[in-house]
This record gives sequence, C-alpha cells and structure tokens, in this order.
Amino acid sequence: MNTYYIAVLAGDGIGPEVVNEATKVLDACAQRFDFSCCYRYAEVGGAAIDSSGNALPAATLTACETSDAILFGSVGGPKWANLPPQQQPERAALLKLRQHFDLFCNIRPARWYDGFEVLSPLRADITAKGMDIVCFRELTSGIYFGAKERSAEQATDTQTYRYNEVYSIATKAFEAAANRKGKVTSIDKANVMATGVLWRQVVDDVAKQYPHIKLEHMYVDNAAMQLIRDPSQFDVMLCDNLFGDILSDELAAIAGSLGLLPSASINTRGFGLYEPAGGSAPDIAGLGIANPIAQILSAALMLRYSFANDDAACAIEAGVAQTLKQHQVTADLTSNNAVSTASVGDAVARFISEEATSWA
Ligand code: NAD
Ligand code: IPM
Ligand code: MN
Repeated sequence: MNTYYIAVLAGDGIGPEVVNEATKVLDACAQRFDFSCCYRYAEVGGAAIDSSGNALPAATLTACETSDAILFGSVGGPKWANLPPQQQPERAALLKLRQHFDLFCNIRPARWYDGFEVLSPLRADITAKGMDIVCFRELTSGIYFGAKERSAEQATDTQTYRYNEVYSIATKAFEAAANRKGKVTSIDKANVMATGVLWRQVVDDVAKQYPHIKLEHMYVDNAAMQLIRDPSQFDVMLCDNLFGDILSDELAAIAGSLGLLPSASINTRGFGLYEPAGGSAPDIAGLGIANPIAQILSAALMLRYSFANDDAACAIEAGVAQTLKQHQVTADLTSNNAVSTASVGDAVARFISEEATSWA
C-alpha cells in the first residue's frame, strides 16, 4: 500500500477549521483507494509567531522537507499585521515556502458546477454559456520578489522577469491547454511595462512549439473586464505573479465565492503546496461557517499533481459537485439553510465512502 507523506500546516483564522475537513476527506479517499496518509502537523504563520516567535520555525521546514507535499491552510490576520514586514506571516512563511521549494507554477481552476451557476453574481444569460477556466500564475518571481525599499518619504517595489522564468510557466500553460480546449490567453501590460514586452515575446516563442494551441494576448485591464462580460471565452489564463493574484480572486467571485477556489503551487519535481486561494478570513474565523470546499479541492489537486492519483482526485471533485447539488452549502453560498463547515466535509467524505461501498 502506498503511503503519502503530507506536511499539514493549518495556520491562522479559518485555516485549522477547513484543513480539518480536507484531512477528513483525504482519509475517506485513503480507505476507498487503498493508500495511507502520514500527516506531519506543524505550526506556521501567526500561530507559530505566538508560540515560538517565528512564522516558519525550523521544525516546520523540516516537516515539509521530509514530506511529499504540503497541505496549507492560510496565514495572517490583524493580530500580526503591524509586525515589521519581513516578520509578517504572509512573507515570512508563505512566500518563503514558495521560494524555498521553487514552487513557480501556481494553478487555480475555476468553474461553475451544473445547476450552481446561480451562485455567480453574473447574469443568467452570461452564466448560461458556461465557465471552465484554469489560471496559471507565475509564483516565485516578479514584483513579489524584486528589490524593495521604503523610507518615510518614498517606497519602491521592482519587477524583474527573466526569460527562463516566463518560459517555464508559459510552457506549463500550453501543456495544460493541449489537454483542454486548446486556448491560452496570456495576460500582461505590454503597453506600459518592460516586463510585459518581454513576457509577450517569450510567450510567442513558446507558442511556436504548440502550433495547435490558439494564443491570444490580452492587456490586464481588458482581461479584468472580459472576465465579467463573458468568462466562457477563456480556457487557460497565463499570468504573472501580481496579475494572477488579482484575477484569481475575480475568478473566485465569478464562480460564486472565494471559498470555492483551490490552488496548487508546484515545482519541477512535482512537489507542491496546496492551499485555498483565499485567506484566513478573520471576519468569520472560529464560527464554524467557513466554506471548506477550496481546501478540499486543494487536497484533490494534491492527489493529482503530487501523488498521480487521478481516481482519488476525481472522486473528491465528484463529491464536491454532489454536495453542492444537494444544497449542503455554507453561508457564503446561500442566504437560507446554510450548513456548517464540518457538515460540508462530512457530506463530501460520505459521498466518497458510500461510492466505495456501491463500487465494491
Ligand atoms: P480573505 O481571503 O481572508 O477574506 C476575504 C473575504 O472572503 C472575507 O469576507 C472572508 O470572510 C471571505 N472568505 C474567504 N475565504 C472564505 C471561505 N473559505 N468561506 C467563506 N468566506 C470566505 O482576504 P483578506 O481579508 O484580504 O485577508 C485576511 C488575511 O489573510 C490577511 O492577513 C491576508 O494577508 C491573508 N491571506 C492569506 C492567504 C494565504 O495564507 N494563502 C491568502 C490570502 C490572504
Ligand atoms: C494568494 C495570497 C498571497 C499572494 C498572499 C497572502 C501573500 O493572496 O495566495 O493569493 O498574494 O500570493
Ligand atoms: Mn491572493
């Protein structure tokens, strides 16, 4: 039997609540698909600052290094927002992990589930056309990791992109498009930014190797607008670090809630960090009402990308679709009869276990 070694870093706010539902669902998968999960729980973010003074303690990094994947909740919140920037949970833990493990390729899939287009804030005539988009976001370079300076009078962030960095993420996007609807929309600001001009040139170079993929270049401001006007026109979106961050939250809102959007951040070895695209949601933390679906779907991405277990990943995705269909949803998705975080996790896990019985 295969054993999957998973570092579990729940973090702050709703992190522990939703991570608990993801491990519940992974355990149901392990039973059904005959593998075992060895979880290495470790502290991260504000919780780790409170207990040890460091957002990413050495023991946590070791837990990640000795595992095959990281299941990550979320970090940060008002309690730690006034620390010096370099000590804050987002930079000291999350960005550091992305950089340490070279997790350059961030994948965020967004779609409407059948019958659940009503969750979208968009008009019915727009949702009727469907949406199934995957955003490929460059995750270890750009303005996030460029030189920064700040004085009382002035502050500077710099954006640098190297040819190879754009080449690597663009290649991932084209490979994905080849197995989907065959279209890449590359998003930049080449009418203003030097990095945008380079981005466009490199993407054109990569495109030459994929003659069957349709490539479209789009300025980011237009992309933000087109996403709302007609999301059905997109298949694979290719973005730099900052534009991908912003547009992926937009994708989540179009899908219905930030609580639906999963995220996989992987390196060339298939090692990955799997987390919801959203944050620690301090406004609802501790209430048991957070939507765990983004975290549960992130666990599905982990099974697919780090453990090559597509059957188990698909079972989770089917379980989520079924749970939504049965209207077992949290308060972000409905104004009446909302269920708790744990009830959603139970429903997905039950689907996986019951299918196991009926398929046996
Ligand atoms: P947020 O994503 O935490 O919350 C934005 C809004 O979305 C809130 O109203 C929240 O209640 C809602 N929301 C988010 N996830 C939800 C879920 N699963 N179910 C229901 N509602 C959900 O963004 P923010 O308020 O800008 O940031 C809060 C903190 O989280 C900040 O410290 C920020 O830096 C951090 N953050 C962390 C990560 C991460 O660790 N991966 C990602 C984004 C933000
Ligand atoms: C995300 C988050 C992070 C980012 C923050 C918390 C550093 O917003 O994963 O989308 O900006 O990448
Ligand atoms: Mn974000």
